[in-house]
Amino acid sequence: MVEALRTEWRQTKNKFLSQVRKMKHPVGKLNWGDLRRGEPFCNEFGFERGTPIDRYYLDKFIGSIRHQVKGKVVEIGGALSNRGEYGFENVSTYDAVDLLESPLVNICGDVHESNLLKPGYYDTILLFNVLEHCHTPQKVVDNIQNWLVPSGYCMAIVPNAQRIHNNPGDYWRILPDGMKTLFQNFDEVQVTTYGNPTSLIASYMGIAAEELTPDELDQSHPLYPVTTCLVAKNSNN
Ligand SMILES: C[S@@+](CC[C@H](N)C(=O)[O-])C[C@H]1O[C@@H](n2cnc3c(N)ncnc32)[C@H](O)[C@@H]1O
Repeated sequence: MVEALRTEWRQTKNKFLSQVRKMKHPVGKLNWGDLRRGEPFCNEFGFERGTPIDRYYLDKFIGSIRHQVKGKVVEIGGALSNRGEYGFENVSTYDAVDLLESPLVNICGDVHESNLLKPGYYDTILLFNVLEHCHTPQKVVDNIQNWLVPSGYCMAIVPNAQRIHNNPGDYWRILPDGMKTLFQNFDEVQVTTYGNPTSLIASYMGIAAEELTPDELDQSHPLYPVTTCLVAKNSNN
């Protein structure tokens, strides 16, 4: 019995060692180059070097939803000027909400409060990089559902591979299954991701989008999301 186990162990070990020898990048021989470091290249998401990776994917997401942003719109954690900046042309009114009072927004308050906005009022609610800052995201999603008209849309993006940034807190990295769960009471939910191992490392290291090729940015690997995006249609009633 013991001898049989020893033989099996030897065979497994030899098989593993022969696989390691055949590896294109053998263990211990990786060239880490500039990446072997304890600090990112830019601590501000890559802004000092160019376009942060998450901004590149936000632009792509906005491009994909632009035609669906319609009617009475509110952007949570956004700015009134984004209506023009993001090219939302099918909008009748545009509100911007934030916790912090500023000339950028016309409504100041906490989206955890159910009476912050009018029930059944908005055709579209935009939520870009906000849910990770909400201590109780399910409460916020339930409020959004209540503020939407029947069959209205919520469009959201959350970071997956991004350093901690307190705005005011930073509580979660919500993955695709988490987004589906938060929005499970909506009628139709589409969740997509952007990112791959290269852009994920670039995002954490503060490397800018301009430093990667379009292919390196646009390859999508479902197991390595940098951002998760959602388009959810409210139920009819
Ligand atoms: C990371 S910033 C995102 C800004 C912008 N949407 C973007 O993608 O660049 C998050 C914004 O959401 C706001 N915010 C966070 N929690 C909030 C809450 N509970 N209610 C309203 N606004 C909130 C913050 O004040 C901040 O302006």
